[in-house]
Amino acid sequence: MPEHRDRTGHLSIAIRAVPLLLVLAFVGFFLIFARRTVPPALAEPAAAPPAQQATIGEECRDCHGLVVESFALNAHGKSGKFLKDSRTMSCETCHGDAANHIASQGKPNTIENPAKWTAARINQTCLDCHSRDRHVLNWQGGEHDRKDMSCLSCHTNHHPGLLKNMSAAFAGRADAEVAQTISARLPEKMLVNSTVEETCLRCHSDIRKNFLQRSTHLFRTELRNQKVGCASCHNPHGGEGDKMLVSPSVNSLCYSCHAEKRGPFLWEHPPARENCMVCHSPHGSNNTKLLTARVHMLCQQCHIHMLPRHSTTAGRPLDIWSINRGCINCHSQVHGSNHPGGRTFTR
Ligand code: HEC
Ligand code: HEC
Ligand code: HEC
Ligand code: HEC
Ligand code: HEC
Ligand code: HEC
Ligand code: HEC
Ligand code: HEC
Ligand code: HEC
Ligand code: HEC
Repeated sequence: MPEHRDRTGHLSIAIRAVPLLLVLAFVGFFLIFARRTVPPALAEPAAAPPAQQATIGEECRDCHGLVVESFALNAHGKSGKFLKDSRTMSCETCHGDAANHIASQGKPNTIENPAKWTAARINQTCLDCHSRDRHVLNWQGGEHDRKDMSCLSCHTNHHPGLLKNMSAAFAGRADAEVAQTISARLPEKMLVNSTVEETCLRCHSDIRKNFLQRSTHLFRTELRNQKVGCASCHNPHGGEGDKMLVSPSVNSLCYSCHAEKRGPFLWEHPPARENCMVCHSPHGSNNTKLLTARVHMLCQQCHIHMLPRHSTTAGRPLDIWSINRGCINCHSQVHGSNHPGGRTFTR
């Protein structure tokens, strides 16, 4: 094997040095040919697995085999294998000293189980490592923190429920094999539920109706994946703005995807500058375009007594409420206009 690799090295240098030379092309052809004919049996030893790495929780394996195997496959288990700083991970990081537990063959109350702790203690344990993560930075004092929720309201470390159910279904197979199968099906980011949305809707069930409304941000593409989801706009760990928004204000959030609404405009419409929520609802609406009310009702919240003004300007005054799309039939640029004659947003 090593001889073969040496030859490859020499050749690639030669090819770079004297390109397009017929002789070398000839040798190149031979090399490719030679490579193809290396018998698989010879190629295999090079791909042999590296020396066995120590498994996290080896001492727990006899009694919690599946937990140990599946832990090695999640983000925590993987990080434990290469991180050698203060975030180095072992079972004891969260479960404390296990000596008594093992010595007593797993007697009750011999080991810590975070699921039984207060929210504050759980959060402290997780934040020992995660408080510096950009996403989790604003957890403390955020609305979820203040409601005494813990990381385990949305995350789980081992998915004990799934582990139990699925291991029963795969009874008889080796732990490692079952763990592989299970971990391939686990939700991302160690979430309790299968998607971010399901995780949130467990508690915020009133928002579920928005998925089905005439106009919604919470639509799915043909591939059934969520194009705009809760986490596009909210950071459940506490965001930069009110209502845990990922941006400092509602408008800066909306501009991040609807940049054309930012302007600057020659003629600004004050409510659009102020807060998009004046006219739109963020999750869904039974009116078109996420509007909080039907157009003419919406505009009349602020613009009353429109009839006399339009009797001269618009020609057929009564139609201003009813024809086609009402007010925006003529005032189509309600977000602002850059047309010199766009003072009334008609162009
Ligand atoms: C000799 C067998 C054995 C070994 C080794 C063992 N455990 Fe256990 N463990 C048990 C038994 C039995 C239970 C109780 C199971 C139950 O209640 O379903 C248990 C329960 C637990 C619980 C849940 C405790 C609770 O109060 O809910 C945790 C957490 C745990 N073990 C962690 C560990 C860790 C971490 C290790 C390795 C450092 C370990 N165990 C090693 C047998 C063992
Ligand atoms: C990052 C913290 C953390 C680490 C590290 C950790 N666990 Fe856990 N463990 C938890 C939490 C949290 C729970 C409560 C259930 C859940 O959220 O998954 C738990 C629950 C358990 C349970 C009880 C499961 C049940 O059926 O209720 C066992 C057993 C267990 N852990 C074993 C281990 C073993 C073995 C290791 C090392 C391979 C380990 N844990 C590493 C946080 C951790
Ligand atoms: C000893 C340090 C440490 C502790 C304690 C710890 N974590 Fe982690 N966690 C990590 C590291 C390291 C990673 C992987 C790298 C990263 O995402 O920063 C990680 C990743 C994660 C991820 C991302 C998973 C993914 O698939 O991307 C979540 C979610 C998470 N941890 C939640 C928790 C929760 C909940 C707790 C408390 C029960 C906890 N962590 C405790 C170190 C820790
Ligand atoms: C209200 C639900 C909720 C709570 C409570 C929660 N998380 Fe999360 N967490 C999520 C969701 C949802 C995601 C995935 C976000 C995404 O996909 O953008 C996530 C992602 C993460 C990540 C991965 C970040 C990344 O982008 O890779 C870490 C780390 C994490 N959470 C840690 C924690 C810690 C630590 C706590 C407790 C202090 C906690 N979470 C509490 C819902 C929650
Ligand atoms: C375990 C229940 C629970 C889960 C899961 C949960 N929340 Fe909450 N959330 C609450 C509670 C309680 C409040 C406090 C306000 C209330 O009573 O509605 C809240 C408040 C909020 C608020 C309003 C914050 C404010 O300043 O008024 C937002 C936004 C929010 N959650 C988003 C989310 C998102 C996004 C998710 C999913 C990643 C999620 N929540 C998952 C319980 C939950
Ligand atoms: C397109 C951005 C966007 C998406 C996607 C989104 N939200 Fe919101 N959400 C907002 C805005 C903006 C507000 C603040 C509304 C206000 O200030 O009047 C809000 C407010 C909230 C509130 C506070 C209570 C309320 O209704 O005013 C909760 C709870 C909430 N959202 C949960 C969710 C959940 C759960 C999801 C996913 C199913 C989600 N949001 C998806 C933008 C969004
Ligand atoms: C994460 C990106 C994202 C953010 C943030 C976002 N939107 Fe959207 N919005 C979309 C997408 C994608 C569509 C789908 C329509 C399209 O552009 O094809 C959409 C559609 C809309 C529609 C038209 C709905 C319909 O039924 O035709 C309105 C109105 C709207 N958004 C307003 C807002 C407002 C107001 C905000 C701020 C609270 C906001 N959006 C934040 C991505 C976003
Ligand atoms: C004064 C009320 C009002 C305000 C404030 C407002 N909108 Fe609208 N918006 C409308 C109306 C009315 C429509 C429907 C236009 C149509 O059907 O032609 C609309 C449609 C939209 C659409 C979908 C159609 C399009 O033009 O792309 C988006 C996206 C949108 N608005 C984003 C925003 C954003 C972002 C803000 C905040 C900067 C905002 N809106 C503020 C009234 C408003
Ligand atoms: C929250 C209140 C509010 C809502 C809702 C609202 N507007 Fe306005 N609108 C204003 C304000 C404030 C001005 C600036 C008035 C001024 O400069 O005298 C304005 C200005 C205008 C002007 C220009 C008038 C002028 O004299 O320059 C038009 C046209 C207009 N709005 C149309 C609409 C239409 C159409 C809608 C519905 C899609 C609407 N507005 C919804 C508050 C609102
Ligand atoms: C048939 C077209 C049309 C419809 C429909 C219409 N408008 Fe107008 N509107 C106009 C025209 C044209 C002007 C005057 C434009 C100018 O002078 O530049 C005007 C002027 C205005 C002004 C400014 C008045 C002023 O004193 O300067 C406001 C505010 C306004 N419309 C609001 C509305 C509202 C609210 C509706 C829906 C209830 C509506 N318009 C429906 C055509 C229309």
